[in-house]
This record gives sequence, C-alpha cells and structure tokens, in this order.
Amino acid sequence: MAFYQILFSPTGGTARAAALLAEGMGETAAIVDLCDPTFVPAVFQKGDVCLVAVPAYGGRVPALAARRFGACRGNGARAVVVAVYGNREYEDTLVELQDLAEAAGFTVAAGVAAVAEHSIVREFGGGRPDTEDAAVLRDMGRRMRRLLAEKNAGTPVLPGNRPYRECHLMPIGIHVSGDCTGCGLCAQKCPAGAIDPSAPSLPAQESCISCMRCVAVCPVGARTVDPTKIAALKEMIGPACRERKENHLFW
Ligand SMILES: Cc1cc2nc3c(=O)[nH]c(=O)nc-3n(C[C@H](O)[C@H](O)[C@H](O)COP(=O)(O)O)c2cc1C
Ligand code: SF4
Ligand code: SF4
Repeated sequence: MAFYQILFSPTGGTARAAALLAEGMGETAAIVDLCDPTFVPAVFQKGDVCLVAVPAYGGRVPALAARRFGACRGNGARAVVVAVYGNREYEDTLVELQDLAEAAGFTVAAGVAAVAEHSIVREFGGGRPDTEDAAVLRDMGRRMRRLLAEKNAGTPVLPGNRPYRECHLMPIGIHVSGDCTGCGLCAQKCPAGAIDPSAPSLPAQESCISCMRCVAVCPVGARTVDPTKIAALKEMIGPACRERKENHLFW
C-alpha cells in the first residue's frame, strides 16, 4: 500500500491538519500538491490510500482544487476526504469532495472536518490546529487506520447538501506596497498563476482566488488586504465564528 496526501493548502492550515491525521495513521505520505501552478494530474492504483484535504471556501471545495483533483485518477484507491475550515462552517465542502473523489475513481472510506486559523480574518480559529486539536486529530488518524484495515468498511454518510450551495466569493483585493523588492516569490507560489512573474509588484490578475498565499509568503510584507475589507468581513461572519468549533470524523 502506498500512502498519499493530496493537498490544496495555500496558507498551510489544511496541510497542518492533514499532517496530524497522517501522524495518527502512522504513515509517511508522499505529497501531491494541488497548489502547484504546474500541477500534473496524478494516477493512483487499487490498494493506495489517499488523504485528500482542502479548505472550505464559501462552504465549497475551492474551484481550482476541484478542477485539479477531479483530473486525477483513483483507479479504486481509497480516499479519506478532509474539509478544513476557519471556524465558521464547511457546509457542502465534504459532500462535494466525496462526489469529486468518487467521480475520479476513488472509494471514499471516511470524512473529516477540521478547524484551522481563518486565512483572511486570522483571529477566527487563531493558532488552530492547537494542542487540543492535535490530540483529537492524531486520535482520529489512529481510528482511521483501524477502519482502513477492515476489508468491508462501508461508504460514509457525510454532512452537506446536494445540490451544493451557490458560492459567489467576492475578490478580496490585495494591494502591493512600494516595499516590494520584485523578488518574484509571490508569482512563483501563486496557485492560480495570477501574478505576472515579470511584474510581480503589480496587483494580481482576474484569476486570483483570494487564497492569501502571496500575502503569507512575501518576505517583506508588501502584499496586504485593505484593513477595512477585513473589518467588513469580520463584521459579516463574526457571529458565526466566535464560538470554538470542533473537529469531526464521519465513517
Ligand atoms: C476565499 C476564502 C473563503 C473561505 N471560506 C470559508 C468558509 O466558508 N468557512 C470557513 O469556516 N472558513 C472559510 N475560509 C477559511 C479557510 O477555510 C481556512 O482558513 C483554511 O484553514 C485555509 O486553508 P489553508 O491555510 O490551507 O490555506 C475561507 C478562506 C478563504 C481564503
Ligand atoms: S514576494 Fe513580496 S517582495 Fe517579492 S515580488 Fe512578491 S510582493 Fe514583491
Ligand atoms: S494572487 Fe490571489 S490567487 Fe495568487 S496567491 Fe495571491 S491571493 Fe492567492
């Protein structure tokens, strides 16, 4: 059996949650990076196990992650689908990921919803996954290991609705300050190829998915979101985000 983590994790929260699950499963995984702008669809085989983890964007699988994962071929490999969310809600992310996995030829064995810091309003879920999450996620990993050892494990019933909710994400709009040194790291790391590598100090192109990776990786903090926009989003989603949400395993 080969073990893989298929990840879309622009700012690292999804990857951290998936790593804790993998640690509990006691497996060392090869990483298939759905954020790689030069991504080439991967082909798996029966007997492989794949932890497929994406963040919730507007309660859905990010469209770019859906396209790239949907182009992979499962060939009967088993998948654990993981939705990582910023302490608001993940709505239809898990069922959409399950449908994508099945359409690509995977057999879905389990689903996990896990909380990580909200990548735009960072005080929501700030610092998560934290020590408490780490213990819970490692334990889930151990339970999944036992489940995957069972030959006739059924198909899990995951929370969410079909048809999926409509998702119209407003572009967040990232500014570039005069501190930009033109190093090009943001253009190299942008999952959507939305930053012109020959002019990285210019604002992103229309294909930007507001994933916040360029803001996170810029070594001089030259890329920022207008604080009034963050304040407006905080006001809008705040009531749903303040209470601590938990991680869940479904099988
Ligand atoms: C465009 C966008 C949309 C988001 N939508 C949601 C959402 O619907 N619900 C939620 O709880 N968190 C939402 N988040 C927060 C992310 O799901 C969360 O921060 C996740 O950990 C980000 O993953 P990453 O750190 O791997 O990039 C959103 C973040 C972004 C950038
Ligand atoms: S990473 Fe920052 S400094 Fe480097 S090109 Fe991008 S905005 Fe400029
Ligand atoms: S330009 Fe947009 S898509 Fe690219 S890294 Fe920045 S926020 Fe993400």
